[in-house]
Amino acid sequence: MSSLLILPGDGIGPEVMVEVRRIIEWFVKNKGLQLEITEDLVGGAAFDKHGTPLHEKTLEKALEVDAVLLGAVGGPKYDSLDFNLKPERALLKLRKELDLYANIRPAQCFDALASFSSLKRDIVSGLDIVIVRELTSGIYFGEPRGIQKTDSNERVGINTQRYTESEIKRVAISAFELAKKRSGKVCSMEKANVMESGVLWREVVSEVHRDFQEIELSHMYADNGAMQLVRDPKQFDVIVTDNLFGDILSDCAAMLTGSLGMLPSASLGSIMESGKPRAMYEPVHGSAPDITGQSKANPIACILSFSMALRYSYSELENANLLDSCIEKVLAKGYRTPDLMMGEEGELVSTASMTDKIINELDEHKQ
Ligand code: IPM
Ligand code: MG
Repeated sequence: MSSLLILPGDGIGPEVMVEVRRIIEWFVKNKGLQLEITEDLVGGAAFDKHGTPLHEKTLEKALEVDAVLLGAVGGPKYDSLDFNLKPERALLKLRKELDLYANIRPAQCFDALASFSSLKRDIVSGLDIVIVRELTSGIYFGEPRGIQKTDSNERVGINTQRYTESEIKRVAISAFELAKKRSGKVCSMEKANVMESGVLWREVVSEVHRDFQEIELSHMYADNGAMQLVRDPKQFDVIVTDNLFGDILSDCAAMLTGSLGMLPSASLGSIMESGKPRAMYEPVHGSAPDITGQSKANPIACILSFSMALRYSYSELENANLLDSCIEKVLAKGYRTPDLMMGEEGELVSTASMTDKIINELDEHKQ
């Protein structure tokens, strides 16, 4: 039986995860999905109980299972904590310890929501791109780092951008492999004009490309990439980039689609004995403390994250497609959580009733 570790986390994390569990239940009951589920604390919730955002036992469990599904971490309550105790550290530690080097962030514009984007409808309608962000190296993890004193007793903040050839190579392979299943186009983004790590990035991506001749590869400086993403995002298919640029560019790409509440992500590592990659799935949105506990959260990003788990970790392609299409239908029928409400358009629904609508749609496809 396949296994899943659920880490609801903080803020709206637990409330959207309740909804995902209802969706999972549906697949267990109606499509014979077999999943051994365990649940644990992470982030601020783990800090409150154990004094650490990621307990050793939780990490051990994460290393054992086929996939991890995480809600969100963080909240104002934890802002003044020491760097190493902050909820976000749990995320970074999970990424690093599980060696989840390829972060897949699709930015897909649902037709029903195209008018929500801050860009004109025809620029985003039909948009379907994926950012592959390197997730375990670069300036997020490079040494030396810290806040130190200079010789003249002035404080200096230090972070180091560092990439080895093999780190670039493996994420480039992930991007090319993904492009094979899509339209066969990869754009690699760095700052080779000012950074040596960018020069190496460009060289290694080009070398890896020799094994993927059928893929069309282009290179772009990341600042131009940001501009092109808002000018004409549909020119892209797969974008591959480093950890920091990927963090920024993926937020930008997310906003093209109209709402952060819609976007899932998958963080994939090396292949395990099961033949599947080590994996963690999470919505792109954060813990949203401002709306926590008000039944306003949009559960779709987290439900779509589970759909990615069906796809990449459990070989349940048909069920993943079914879930995706039911979500699309619910949106097309005009049901909207508050983040998707614009003017008078659509019918306002709560977190739970959005899930009800999706389940009603799934019920049309019972075996
Ligand atoms: C993300 C987030 C994280 C990051 C934070 C919460 C540590 O912004 O997943 O994009 O910077 O990677
Ligand atoms: Mg981010």
